[in-house]
Amino acid sequence: MDARRAAILGTIGVERFVARAPAPPTTPPGASDPAALDWDGLAAAVRGCTRCALAATRTHTVFGVGDRAARWLVVGEAPGADEDRQGEPFVGRAGQLLNSMLRGAGLAREQVFIANVLKCRPPGNRDPLPEEVRCCLPYLHRQIALLAPELILCVGRIAAQTLLGVETPIGQLRGRRHVLQPFGTPLVVTYHPAYLLRSPGEKRKSWADLKLALEISSGHGA
Ligand code: URA
Repeated sequence: MDARRAAILGTIGVERFVARAPAPPTTPPGASDPAALDWDGLAAAVRGCTRCALAATRTHTVFGVGDRAARWLVVGEAPGADEDRQGEPFVGRAGQLLNSMLRGAGLAREQVFIANVLKCRPPGNRDPLPEEVRCCLPYLHRQIALLAPELILCVGRIAAQTLLGVETPIGQLRGRRHVLQPFGTPLVVTYHPAYLLRSPGEKRKSWADLKLALEISSGHGA
């Protein structure tokens, strides 16, 4: 609006509304797009993540741990209280059992990469909310792309259903070979170690799942 028109409008009592420049975005576009990040950038993005409300209740984010060139990616659900305290996945009782399961398959914990669907602990260990999964899943997808594992082992219903995008009960998902798209990665589902601690009778089935995973990753189960 030019000065003359503004003066005229002012004299007849018409207020002037001048459009303000839009506020600059707080995050530069693309800076937090996980699909564009390398390992260190991704770890930093997770550390500073405020995409969902869990940022307000977590003690630590839990990015994942292990060999960034591992052949196996183990995927769990979300950090529990111990993991939230220490910032590392599967460090509680379930983690001890996961370590023994891996050892049984001839793998040390340090030889695989371990991550969760959610990088922050849901309060009270409740199931992840759809909105939390929606916000967090791009981080796991980027971890899969960067790692390009030979095999993904999903432990528990939430990890399996989330990655496969199905609602099939875990009893029907375990015991067979899936392929995770769009990565084309073989994926095996087994019970969550926390469930196996409560139902040790199911360990036999879990061992069968691990043997299947071993067959697939050594090229015999395709
Ligand atoms: N349960 C999970 O699914 N992940 C962890 O990191 C710990 C417990």
